[in-house]
Amino acid sequence: MPSATSRRQERSYLKYGRFSSDGAEFICRRPDTPRPGVNYLSNGRYCLILSNQGTGYSFFDDPGARRVTRWNPDNYQKLEAPGRAVYFRDRLTGKSWRNGAPGGERAASFECRHGPGYTRLQNRREGVLSAITFFVPEGETLEVWLVELENLTRRRRELSLFPFAELSPGQWTPDLTVRNLYHLVNEARFDRTRGMILARKLPWGGEEHPYVVFMGSAAKASGFDTDYESFIGAGRSYAKPLALERGGCAGSLCRGGNLVGALEYRLSLKPGQKKELAVVLGAAPAGENPAALSRAGKDCARRLKRYGSAAGARNALRETRRRWRNAIFPGRVSVSTPDRALDLMANSWMKLQITMNNHWGRSASFYHEGWGEYGYRNTAQDAWSMTPLDPDYARDRLLRLCAHQRSSGQPLPGWSVCSGPSTGKPPSDFPIWLPMLLNAYVKETGDSAVLRKSVRYFDGGAGGVYDHARRGVRFLQDVAKSPRGIPLMGNQDWNDAFDRTGSRGRGESVWLGMGLCVALKELEELATRSGDAATARDCGKRYEKMKSILNRHAWDGSWYLYAFNDFGRPVGSRKNREGRIHLNAQTWAVLAGLPDEERLGKILAVIDKELDGPCGPLLFRPPYRRYDDTIGRITAFAPGAKENASMFCHAAAFKIHADLRLGRGNEAYATLKKILPASPGRDIETYKAEPYVFPEYVNGPGHPSPGEGAFTWLTGSVDWVFMALTEGILGVRPEYDGLRIRPCLPAAWREAGMRRVFRGAVYDIRVHNRAASSGGGVSIFVDGEKVPSGLIRPHGDGKTHKVEVSVNS
Ligand code: GLC
Repeated sequence: MPSATSRRQERSYLKYGRFSSDGAEFICRRPDTPRPGVNYLSNGRYCLILSNQGTGYSFFDDPGARRVTRWNPDNYQKLEAPGRAVYFRDRLTGKSWRNGAPGGERAASFECRHGPGYTRLQNRREGVLSAITFFVPEGETLEVWLVELENLTRRRRELSLFPFAELSPGQWTPDLTVRNLYHLVNEARFDRTRGMILARKLPWGGEEHPYVVFMGSAAKASGFDTDYESFIGAGRSYAKPLALERGGCAGSLCRGGNLVGALEYRLSLKPGQKKELAVVLGAAPAGENPAALSRAGKDCARRLKRYGSAAGARNALRETRRRWRNAIFPGRVSVSTPDRALDLMANSWMKLQITMNNHWGRSASFYHEGWGEYGYRNTAQDAWSMTPLDPDYARDRLLRLCAHQRSSGQPLPGWSVCSGPSTGKPPSDFPIWLPMLLNAYVKETGDSAVLRKSVRYFDGGAGGVYDHARRGVRFLQDVAKSPRGIPLMGNQDWNDAFDRTGSRGRGESVWLGMGLCVALKELEELATRSGDAATARDCGKRYEKMKSILNRHAWDGSWYLYAFNDFGRPVGSRKNREGRIHLNAQTWAVLAGLPDEERLGKILAVIDKELDGPCGPLLFRPPYRRYDDTIGRITAFAPGAKENASMFCHAAAFKIHADLRLGRGNEAYATLKKILPASPGRDIETYKAEPYVFPEYVNGPGHPSPGEGAFTWLTGSVDWVFMALTEGILGVRPEYDGLRIRPCLPAAWREAGMRRVFRGAVYDIRVHNRAASSGGGVSIFVDGEKVPSGLIRPHGDGKTHKVEVSVNS
């Protein structure tokens, strides 16, 4: 009889894998996970999204326009998705196999290690152990595959090795919509002297194709193929390429066909012998003219020389791992709490996920095509959570956001690295996020000079960064408002899916009014810091005005409404049959400081009793079941999915912030545990998604598969969860003049800690909660000395300081 523990393990993620003891790796033991287990290998310029099955794709600079390999929308349901693989063929027996996706069968010994900056796929077949480590070196537009081989048998082996990738240089849209034609401009060459494939497109739509894709190794290739039909073969699957049956590559040169990169290397292995080989796949700038092409060839050759030898690849791997370890693990912030699953995630994976949000916005994921745009709203939130981890990076994003704002204060929708700014009408909420980021950055770094740093407005003129924040808020309050003063919903607010609620120009977003209150509070602080007393006073007045407007018009009896549509009908009201109670309108009412005690009691009851569930709080309840053109696509999504009443992690994280604001440490932690992917109690067969990164949402009870996690990796949820944990629960918050520590622990935590770099010193913080209190007062000692004000002034001396914090009852 299996024990209760083993039965539990059978349904938990442990069935498929586990975290390494330090949490830095997720070690997957099986390729047949319910959904692909994905890692991002990225240096911010080049990115390889890679699953435990070897599927995924690569791009650089702009995923919309600079693909290296192919993505398919149904990637996630197929083992047989395009990707990269290394095939093997035993030349003596004629048997062949591959590392990476084992084609549905379980490999004899399979292991996938996803770590910060690398993924290592290992399996054992036919007496050969093969391990491939994939990584992206810093500053390069390429990926390296370091292949290690070991002959586990007692006989000599004559092997052929075939690194393979489905190449797709160019833009993703024509590749998916008019592939038949887009193929016709494909061209590949094989550079015999350097043993490398060079692939590109000829001009498309009158535009030169700006880069070449290259693939090769320092080892001598004995063959190659660049045409799909020649290597994989017509009517075949990736599991059984024609080339392996034929016994080797055929030297096909693709012109107008489906491009692949396949190389052939022959090697012999004595019994027990190990060998290594490095493969490089990447991109280099090029153009139509022969000189540019020849320069590109040389550029590729130079990089092949550097990374294409086993020794070169090993060095680069060591360096890449070291960089990630420094940045992430321990990085500038690490925590230790009584909750091991939380620590495992917070100390490596949350930071990695935040970094990937920053690198790629909400663009390219396993599940999303990747338009290649950075949206203003998401970028601001991503940079906000990056401030403690990498303030310089956050500053760069802050300045970019300012440059993508009009002089009226209205932000642009976003920008892409290749096609530049997008100039349409942005979602209505965009202005509220800049003050929050700016304030966090100044508090983190003490760099008040940035407030006056001049940045040009997109449509001319320039102003200090503070001026950008001020104008944004003014725009929202003075221009984009309804006659009674509530912000207009426009084409959407934070919730993208309310895209018809205000599209006729009259709908109002109550939630956005709350967001405006929060932004005004941030701006008030910034104004005071900038010595702009008039604006500070004005913010105070504006805040009070907004608060009273919302309290007057948006109270529905037991909770706050979410919006009014273009026809003045309420959304999120007891008068509605569907979408009656919305979480964000309650949590942001708290963040905005709107409710009096009586209303607060009512909305907390609604959050805890009406919206909370086993997977966490729902975005709203009940789901929309019928399409409503006066509300938008939210009503068209399947009930319980995405914005239609799922457990939307981002909103659940807002709820945690609201709890912390009210000193509800127990409730904050209870929600955190429910949404934490690595929570030990999670039933992986239901949840399906990776246990180490946040999904965008988890299907709600209205869905046929409730509890299933969807769209992992690029989501603002992790930004808010990380900040809630570090600044709220552990309570370590930067202020202009130092570090304030005011924990709001769950009462059951007796002790917790944090190591934090802050303005040039390290703080080794221990919080003692002997009083078992959540959110009580504190006494603080730094290096044995009491800090009566509770504010730790920056030491800036490069040393480590011991901070003891006692929570009083
Ligand atoms: C997605 C978007 C984010 C938006 C949210 C709610 O996560 O990336 O910008 O706020 O959905 O619609």
